[in-house]
Amino acid sequence: MQLVIDHICQSFPAGGGRVLPVLEDISLTLREEEFVALVGPSGCGKSTLLNLCAGLLPPVSGSIRFTGDDLTAELRVSIVFQETGLMPWRNVYDNIAFGLEAGHLLPPAERDERIRHYIRLTGLSGFEKAYPHQLSGGMRQRVGIARALAVRPDLLLMDEPFSALDAQTRLLMQEELVSLWEKTRLTTLYVTHNIREAVMLADRVVLLSRRPGRVKDILEIRIPRAERALPEHSAEIAGLESRIWSHISRDAREAMTEVQP
Ligand SMILES: Nc1ncnc2c1ncn2[C@@H]1O[C@H](COP(=O)(O)OP(=O)(O)OP(=O)(O)O)[C@@H](O)[C@H]1O
Ligand SMILES: [Mg+2]
Repeated sequence: MQLVIDHICQSFPAGGGRVLPVLEDISLTLREEEFVALVGPSGCGKSTLLNLCAGLLPPVSGSIRFTGDDLTAELRVSIVFQETGLMPWRNVYDNIAFGLEAGHLLPPAERDERIRHYIRLTGLSGFEKAYPHQLSGGMRQRVGIARALAVRPDLLLMDEPFSALDAQTRLLMQEELVSLWEKTRLTTLYVTHNIREAVMLADRVVLLSRRPGRVKDILEIRIPRAERALPEHSAEIAGLESRIWSHISRDAREAMTEVQP
């Protein structure tokens, strides 16, 4: 299964009959079991592209489609937002169960086993009955990720899932995401502002220009994911980071000082 983003253009009404161009001619194919990070200055349309991929927004022009021999009739797309959107009145177990309560229902025993599997996988065992306010920020993010994974999506979309976390927790969550991803190998599109995070997590990093977002560059990260933190790769990792940063720093500065219409 591949996700084909084909010549996507997106704009929004900006009042007074004007339109705000947000994405310009985006073409990108996510391969089976590929982790692609999307990086670009604030306001360049990253969340918009994720919403388009999730089917939450129809494209103005171009198309987004799944291709491949193994396509099933019912494709599942999960999205993890910056704010996890957990339901405060539901405990951990019931929050994770939420995605399994609509559509094709699983037999109760299978559903229970599925939920417990993702609780174990995300390191939340023992916290099944805890409510969101009783968890740390990192644990809440893990519940959000477990909820997204529990539906066994064909495509996982993540929009800055760790940006609300402190730097230490964020590093730990990155490591956890690497080991979790190695176990699930879901085709993933991951939005982040954090260049290091992109380089540590992704198979490819896609750089968008400032708004209207266009694909400026695509970097392939060939170092095996589990080895990227090792000292022998630190120079190569730093080189990739500085290449990305030199691409986007000028755009980012301009975008920050730009007067929004
Ligand atoms: N529903 C909407 N209606 C009108 N304008 C919108 C809508 N959604 C997004 N925009 C505009 O589109 C542009 C891109 O927004 P988007 O949220 O995709 O950016 P982003 O790259 O995710 O930014 P950030 O990095 O700050 O999260 C912004 O100028 C925003 O104001
Ligand atoms: Mg965004």
